[in-house]
Amino acid sequence: MAKKVAVIGAGVSGLISLKCCVDEGLEPTCFERTEDIGGLWRFKENVEEGRASIYQSVITNTSKEMSCFSDFPMPEHFPNFLHNSKLLEYFRIVARKFDLLKYIQFQTTVLSVTKRQDFSSSGQWEIVTKSNGKEQSAVFDAVMVCSGHHILPHIPLQSFPGIERFKGQYFHSRQYKHPEGFEGKRILVIGMGNSASDIAVELSKKAAQVFISLRQGSWVMSRISDDGYPWDVVFHTRFSSMLRNVLPRMVLKWMMERQMNRWFNHENYGLEPQNKYLMKEPVTNDDLPSRVLYGAIKVKSRVKELTETSAIFEDGTVEEDIDVIIFATGYTFSFPFLEDSFVKVENNMVSLYKYMFPPHLEKPTLACMGLIQPLGSIFPTVELQARWVTRVFKGLCTLPSESTMRADIIKRNEKRVDLFGESQSQIVQTNYIDYLDELAFEIGAKPDILSFLLKDPKLAMQLYFGPCSSYQYRLVGPGQWEGARNAIFTQKQRILKPLKTRSLKASSNFPISFLLKILGLLAVVVGFFFQLQWF
Ligand SMILES: Cc1cc2nc3c(=O)[nH]c(=O)nc-3n(C[C@H](O)[C@H](O)[C@H](O)COP(=O)(O)OP(=O)(O)OC[C@H]3O[C@@H](n4cnc5c(N)ncnc54)[C@H](O)[C@@H]3O)c2cc1C
Ligand SMILES: *[C@@H]1O[C@H](CO)[C@@H](O)[C@H](O)[C@H]1NC(C)=O
Repeated sequence: MAKKVAVIGAGVSGLISLKCCVDEGLEPTCFERTEDIGGLWRFKENVEEGRASIYQSVITNTSKEMSCFSDFPMPEHFPNFLHNSKLLEYFRIVARKFDLLKYIQFQTTVLSVTKRQDFSSSGQWEIVTKSNGKEQSAVFDAVMVCSGHHILPHIPLQSFPGIERFKGQYFHSRQYKHPEGFEGKRILVIGMGNSASDIAVELSKKAAQVFISLRQGSWVMSRISDDGYPWDVVFHTRFSSMLRNVLPRMVLKWMMERQMNRWFNHENYGLEPQNKYLMKEPVTNDDLPSRVLYGAIKVKSRVKELTETSAIFEDGTVEEDIDVIIFATGYTFSFPFLEDSFVKVENNMVSLYKYMFPPHLEKPTLACMGLIQPLGSIFPTVELQARWVTRVFKGLCTLPSESTMRADIIKRNEKRVDLFGESQSQIVQTNYIDYLDELAFEIGAKPDILSFLLKDPKLAMQLYFGPCSSYQYRLVGPGQWEGARNAIFTQKQRILKPLKTRSLKASSNFPISFLLKILGLLAVVVGFFFQLQWF
């Protein structure tokens, strides 16, 4: 018997949930409040209530090879980091290719999701939707909540005494669209996340002066890593993930600090994180340090008080004539259509099993999708979530008992605090490969490197030392894809293709390059000793 599944939202999470439902032979219906797919990634000039809102220049912070779905690589010619319009194009191609649009009811808002009377035996839900002013109700066997969590702005105004006196303009970063209209202004950006630093950098090219005020610093990382490869294909390998897991915390902290300070010394730039041994998510920004170096952005400490025209900072300094304050202070999540008890945030902890299942339901027929902040791309992560959830709905995978789930939630949270810190913005922070493997293990799609080492040693090496891209989860188990192996061996080609826009004559002067390498090595060794003497 095919099961009827309701998918709430047609953003990325909704789309991939739809695909996984279809793959598993379930019968999905997707309700999308707006007129189109893409969610957060569909840029609009105007800000809409109840919908995520991005600025025009948003570019992904995870690269295309690490962000695509596992059986559908992005087109070869796509750049490695994508402008939001380009990413949306990919999602449109995916929707067309897997024929997903026919399951979506647009301009239909989900008002409520409630258990049916016989829930403890049927596990069914009643969903009330509204479309064209008409309310409708329908029964579903299961629900996937894909309504996003970058919608409700978080502005801690109580921490900004004097804001009511402030004569200038102030707003949340979700209202920010582009730098026009800010020419010649003195602007204060509050926060140190990706949005805060993007907006500060962009405005600093037009404004008279930009200040960025942070409570805690953050590591700033470039998208460009070793040899010019995207950061995440270098960072997210099984080998380095293993190292990060086995190395003593002190060594890890030391290495991390060295690595992060190689680009620029964070202390000198006033950006150094307070609690350095937390693996707090770095900010990805290629321009921030240079804008600070040009003096276009000045880094300030936390705001103590605001007056009509100025900002007074914790360290006693004052900046006068502030015209605009932008609160890039993040988001809080809420699910207005769900009973409060389903997705509770208590003591800074989300009580969902593996960030998805409310542990107290008699039947595991509701899951929250994408309510996570992995250190890597969210897209392959949600995909694995959806592959697991759909198999739980079908009864092919089972969840442990309520008490086991609760214990796991508490343990996972302790680990999270230990790794990433207590901060509200880190509440759903997860490790990347560990979490992917955990989900893949549940459905039997986790590649066993040792067995590959015997069968296909070349592949095993790629799996272990190469980027842990999503194709790795299509090699074995349900949902196996015969193109997965080839996709793994061609990822480098797809990374380099968009860069090869100028043809170079093939050079074959091996001895010279070899000589250069030796010289380079010498230089590094000499440099290392000089550096030691310097500091
Ligand atoms: C500025 C920014 C940049 C980011 N960059 C990256 C990145 O580079 N890489 C990465 O991996 N992640 C990134 N993220 C994380 C981001 O959360 C994910 O990329 C992803 O877009 C989340 O998709 P979603 O489908 O879960 O939510 P959304 O995209 O918000 O989609 C939710 C959908 O649900 C609909 N909806 C909501 N409520 C209802 C309702 N009651 N009834 C019907 N429909 C409803 C909405 O209209 C919307 O279409 C970024 C986030 C932000 C804010
Ligand atoms: C990318 O940016 C978004 C928005 O700030 C953030 O939520 C996400 O965690 C970032 N991802 C990584 C891997 O840094």
